[in-house]
Amino acid sequence: MEQIDIKTLNDNVFDLIGKEWMLVTAGNKENGFNTMTASWGCIGWLWNKPVAVIFIRPERHTHDFVEHNDFVTLSFLGNSDEARAIYNFCGSKSGRDCDKVKETGLKPVETNLGNIAYEQSRITLECRKLYKDRIKPDSFIDPTLAKWYGEKPGNYHDVYILEIVNAYK
Ligand SMILES: Cc1cc2nc3c(=O)[nH]c(=O)nc-3n(C[C@H](O)[C@H](O)[C@H](O)COP(=O)(O)O)c2cc1C
Repeated sequence: MEQIDIKTLNDNVFDLIGKEWMLVTAGNKENGFNTMTASWGCIGWLWNKPVAVIFIRPERHTHDFVEHNDFVTLSFLGNSDEARAIYNFCGSKSGRDCDKVKETGLKPVETNLGNIAYEQSRITLECRKLYKDRIKPDSFIDPTLAKWYGEKPGNYHDVYILEIVNAYK
């Protein structure tokens, strides 16, 4: 993995997150880790830092790992058949019920900080948690957004603002 300057990334962020998707991973080899597919997120500039924002529902197994670790990695695998198969698996199965690495052939590699990246990743963002809040139904300015939370509203996303501390290609 080659370290790059995040500011040299010139991918279209709408395609990168919304169409290519990403794996959100937290944990480490020693104590275990988990990963899930995400297609909602943001990359930008806040508090004079490069940041990523992710939205994780509390019932995800990955949520536990994000909660208990200071770092999260975002892995962009591209659009190959292998990548799409990994995304589909990691976005439909829970790490509570299976070993996603074993089932998908993902090849984990440790970063210098001990976080998990993957050999298959074309871009990896290594991020440090800065801020967390939960989506609150009372805060919707556009009430139609409630549709994302079903008829019996619940499971509102936790929003994590992350500092991008390292980027790799
Ligand atoms: C394309 C796609 C995008 C997804 N985006 C998100 C997301 O942004 N936030 C989220 O909480 N779940 C999202 N999911 C759902 C999780 O990936 C899915 O529930 C996964 O099985 C959770 O795995 P886990 O229980 O091992 O964490 C998405 C699923 C797919 C297929």
